[in-house]
Amino acid sequence: MTHFHALAVALLAFTGGWFLCAADVGDFTPCLQFFYTSWPPKGLAGTQICQRYVNQYRFATLYSRPRRSPWFSAYLYSSPTGKRPTASWKFEPQLAYPAADGNMIPFPPGPVDQNVVESQAVDLDYINSTYTRGHLNPSLHHQSHEDRSSTFTLTNVVPQKTGSNDGPWEVLEQTVNKTLAAYCLGDAYIVTGIIPYQKEEHWLKNHRVAVPEYLWSAYCCPKYNNSRPEELKEAFPTYAAIGRNDRNSTEEIVPVDKTAKKQFRGYDVRQMPLATLEMYLKDRFGTVVSVFYEQCSGSE
Ligand SMILES: *[C@@H]1O[C@H](CO)[C@@H](O)[C@H](O)[C@H]1NC(C)=O
Ligand SMILES: *[C@@H]1O[C@H](CO)[C@@H](O)[C@H](O)[C@H]1NC(C)=O
Ligand SMILES: *[C@@H]1O[C@H](CO)[C@@H](O)[C@H](O)[C@H]1NC(C)=O
Ligand SMILES: *[C@@H]1O[C@H](CO)[C@@H](O)[C@H](O)[C@H]1NC(C)=O
Repeated sequence: MTHFHALAVALLAFTGGWFLCAADVGDFTPCLQFFYTSWPPKGLAGTQICQRYVNQYRFATLYSRPRRSPWFSAYLYSSPTGKRPTASWKFEPQLAYPAADGNMIPFPPGPVDQNVVESQAVDLDYINSTYTRGHLNPSLHHQSHEDRSSTFTLTNVVPQKTGSNDGPWEVLEQTVNKTLAAYCLGDAYIVTGIIPYQKEEHWLKNHRVAVPEYLWSAYCCPKYNNSRPEELKEAFPTYAAIGRNDRNSTEEIVPVDKTAKKQFRGYDVRQMPLATLEMYLKDRFGTVVSVFYEQCSGSE
């Protein structure tokens, strides 16, 4: 399936879901606070999920039902404290049952309800695959224990190679953490998403969950420290990056550092201005994709 077909199917799923419209699927309205100026990214279609955990909205995800994985997750950064919670993986009951409570719930120890299995990725999809569970919204970018725990939902996760997840992509998450903690003076809005393969979709072993070719991320921090160091001049108010998730990808978008450690080689991350990211998104999706209102120009 090409990504154009995937988008068309996603669009159908979206309009289909519209009429069933439960509070937390198919509608970002209750969680617009996670988007800069309450303006969700434009140009991508999918099922809108307001990610709810312990009765609070934690972040927002644009989900692709046909891919059983997200297009992007959007969240507010908060300076982290404490340790990564032990992974307790959750699912979204409302993707299977529109009338369900919108709170994500942990997978049961035994067999999973077949309607849930049909509607989203489950533990078994990732077990014994050659991919790890790559958070789009990482637990590392949050302060409270509950915000951190809420990132462990499979609707916030894509198949990510270990060499990326434990290598350059993790370094990027840490760099963004340090940069924002040190020089962002107000809210920082982050959107992290994926770029599908251009031609042949790649799937996890059992052909249920689509694998992305690249991950991308961008932040918008409209209020920042003007006396930041010279090397961070370009990093505000907005900056972006694209990371490789496939060693075999060509090098037009992200070149490969041949001197990198073998286990991380081919999983490079290239930092770039937001406009450059949006150019690559337009190229691949065949439509204009706008991540932040007025490209986070700061005129809130
Ligand atoms: C995963 O692979 C191991 C070793 O091949 C096997 O014992 C186990 O049953 C597999 N688990 C699942 C869930 O497929
Ligand atoms: C994130 O940034 C905070 C504040 O600078 C720092 O204390 C923490 O160690 C950083 N965490 C990681 C994993 O880089
Ligand atoms: C801005 O950054 C400089 C160092 O680059 C620091 O001395 C100053 O305290 C920072 N200002 C604020 C408001 O954080
Ligand atoms: C990369 O290419 C090698 C050799 O052709 C192949 O075995 C491997 O599956 C490819 N990796 C991906 C992620 O497609």
